[in-house]
Amino acid sequence: MLNKTQQQKLLLLASKASECAYAPYSKFRVGAVVLFDDGSTYKGCNVENASYGLSICAERNAISTAVADGKNSGIVAVAISSPDSKLCYPCGACRQWISEFSKDAMIIVENEDRTPLVHTILELLPHTFRL
Ligand code: THU
Repeated sequence: MLNKTQQQKLLLLASKASECAYAPYSKFRVGAVVLFDDGSTYKGCNVENASYGLSICAERNAISTAVADGKNSGIVAVAISSPDSKLCYPCGACRQWISEFSKDAMIIVENEDRTPLVHTILELLPHTFRL
């Protein structure tokens, strides 16, 4: 379990990542940070495309970056932040992606007052699809 300071630190990193968002179509910027059990973190932002369906969410961008760096297990937490919305929860596709790599990851979003709000991935996606 991460303490409040650690949760806030992750949200700050996610907020910084959102500054790189490429979101000219929705104008909705998102940043995400994935924390692993060895302390390493990987960030991502949403990257949109003129062909809207090709856009990628911040969470999946961060996870892809981690996997490309050889990290596909040991996710402790995923923090998500948007300057355009509080309580920026991961979409269904991103919940499924997070579930692929962790059964008990903490999902940290920002409350109305910007304080951390923590869930588990199982709370957000019960009865996860698995092969
Ligand atoms: N978005 C994310 O980055 N993460 C989510 O979990 C939900 C949605 C992005 C996708 C798109 O670029 C923008 O937010 C508006 O849907």
